[in-house]
Amino acid sequence: MKKRRLGSCVTFFPQPATLVVSADAGGAVNLMMASWAGIVSKTPPTMAVSLHHGRKSYANIRELGWFSVNAVPAKYAIEADLCGLASGKDTDKFELTGLTVESGATPDVQLLSESPLNVECRYSSEVVLGDYRLVLGEIVEIHACDAAFVEQGSIDARQFDPLVYLGGLREYWSLGEKVADAYRAGLSLLPAKND
Ligand SMILES: Cc1cc2nc3c(=O)[nH]c(=O)nc-3n(C[C@H](O)[C@H](O)[C@H](O)COP(=O)(O)O)c2cc1C
Repeated sequence: MKKRRLGSCVTFFPQPATLVVSADAGGAVNLMMASWAGIVSKTPPTMAVSLHHGRKSYANIRELGWFSVNAVPAKYAIEADLCGLASGKDTDKFELTGLTVESGATPDVQLLSESPLNVECRYSSEVVLGDYRLVLGEIVEIHACDAAFVEQGSIDARQFDPLVYLGGLREYWSLGEKVADAYRAGLSLLPAKND
């Protein structure tokens, strides 16, 4: 495959397009688009989100010690984008987008109501990366939309329809089609055992 060098930059995709919900001590809840987010440990269950130290959301998380990371359905791309353009320092993003929140399992924690997958996190630590803070949160609960649970215990991924961000291209896409089963498809390339 012929390639072009892009240099030392941050082009990589797909990335999740998530909305981080946080609040300040005065009770003002905020929404922020974050694509540098993802689960980074199973034991203990841990979510990481990398936030510029100047974000209102970062100040909120340090102030109250909780946040939620919420998957965004593709149909909310415009509303979610606004949450990546305006700051809660001077803008009520709920008023502009019509998005809403609901209570999580933990007192005070707020979740995005329009999201089919909410990850409730308690701040645990952070890593300083220049201007950014890689915030680690212990996952205390995950809420998944009930409609996705179809017969025989399987989950219908189409119900989530997650918005996907193509970092570097600055484009939002939707997920596309399932191509294979993880932890299984690769088995077909293992040599057959002769015993
Ligand atoms: C697609 C997209 C992805 C973004 N991802 C991040 C991110 O991962 N971390 C970050 O600090 N800012 C990110 N931003 C920028 C913030 O969302 C933006 O600065 C926002 O206004 C901060 O809001 P706040 O000050 O209310 O917290 C992203 C913006 C967009 C449009």
